[in-house]
Amino acid sequence: KLLPVEMHKIKIVQQTRLPSADERLRAMEEAGYNTFLLRTRDVFLDMLTDSGTNAMSDNQLGAMMVADDAYAGSESFYKLQDAVNEVFGLPYLLPAHQGRAAEHLLAKVLVKPGDVVPMNYHFTTTKAHFTLAGGTVLEIFTDEALNTDSKEFFKGNIDTDKFLDVIKTYGSERISFVRMEATTNLLGGQPFSMANYKKVKEIAAANNIKLVLDASLISEQAYFIKQREDGYKDRSIAEIIWELADIADIVYLSGRKSCAVRGGFIATKRKDIFDTILPWLPVYEGFATYGGMSTKEIEAMAVGIREMTQYSVASSSADMIQYFAEQLKTRGIPVVTPPGGLACHIDARRFLPDIPPSKYIAASLTSAVYLISGARGMERGTMSEQRDPDGNEVFSDLELLRLAVPRRTYTLAQIDYVVDRVAWLANHRDLIKGLIFYEEPPILRFFFGKMRAI
Ligand code: F0G
Repeated sequence: KLLPVEMHKIKIVQQTRLPSADERLRAMEEAGYNTFLLRTRDVFLDMLTDSGTNAMSDNQLGAMMVADDAYAGSESFYKLQDAVNEVFGLPYLLPAHQGRAAEHLLAKVLVKPGDVVPMNYHFTTTKAHFTLAGGTVLEIFTDEALNTDSKEFFKGNIDTDKFLDVIKTYGSERISFVRMEATTNLLGGQPFSMANYKKVKEIAAANNIKLVLDASLISEQAYFIKQREDGYKDRSIAEIIWELADIADIVYLSGRKSCAVRGGFIATKRKDIFDTILPWLPVYEGFATYGGMSTKEIEAMAVGIREMTQYSVASSSADMIQYFAEQLKTRGIPVVTPPGGLACHIDARRFLPDIPPSKYIAASLTSAVYLISGARGMERGTMSEQRDPDGNEVFSDLELLRLAVPRRTYTLAQIDYVVDRVAWLANHRDLIKGLIFYEEPPILRFFFGKMRAI
């Protein structure tokens, strides 16, 4: 098996530090056992997220130096528009300050109270915005999606029978749109197949329902299609990205995850959709040619969008994640398989079979891994859910610890270090007893909530 060899040189580095075990314990106590509340000075390897932490290229940094600052009509914006049109084939562009801002605009314009929004899986910010607009998120994934020990290549597929049922039950008028997330984040970065995506589009089009693509990880999604789907082996990443964007009615993404360290946008080839969203853009984001981003960020995105189509970029974190997962698996650690995009995911339920969901299984594992390694991951389980309107706990389908692998940021030796520490923890798992909240915010509680170790 080939090692995932880095196809880049490191030219600028940032010093990092491994705090002592005592320092880590103090930091974790202060952070309320919530890795979002740690300071990076207390973190050795920051695997919280790939959002805003992917390494940028020399060309991106260079482009940032020639940004054109203007409230309206900035040349930087037109460079981004050209890049999006060139890579996605979508001429109408609505810039936004990040991915959730794009979701906010879509919710504002397309989600009406009483609507339902079917999708392959929710993302936290997606669900928050669509729910706040009065909609209900319906997850219509396949049965295999929740199997963390699987050989199914496309766990991000929509179950098209369930989609047809949703249409029958609610009628197209009550469906805001159908949303496909390119590599379902909360299922462990799992892609959908092009065949499934085309089938969803066919059903949507026949019923006059718009297809929205969350393209935040479109580069990895294209890479998985190339690797895993019949008929795509000889297609380039650029061709697959183009095809994905071409099929959707609306594409949006988080620039923080995909092509720069900030930013986001909505793109479409449908002028009617563009025209309905445009008036709201200056209300919430900024004028149509900056959308809440600095022109430097816009320049970096324009370069990053084109770089996303390179094989070495599309594969850079996916291949490392595969290595990470294989190394953990060899040591008996239950990882989500097949490995997906953005992170290596550990199935906390299988890692900690004796902890009940009411004691926040994934959150417990996440804080424990920080304590024994200085590597900060993110809880993706019940702590990341929101309570139902009656205040009852909604137990997450999956209890995952996500160890993100930002693109081109960490080395294989650093991955090996984390593997070694997690393997140690597996032999000392009885040290972990669970967590309880002592401060619980009413929405997106995982960001600021504080917990105590039991
Ligand atoms: N959609 C997906 C699939 C995402 O993963 C994210 C963010 C967003 C939308 C929102 O984008 O952060 O730019 O506002 N994911 C980050 C993460 C936060 O850590 O996975 P944003």
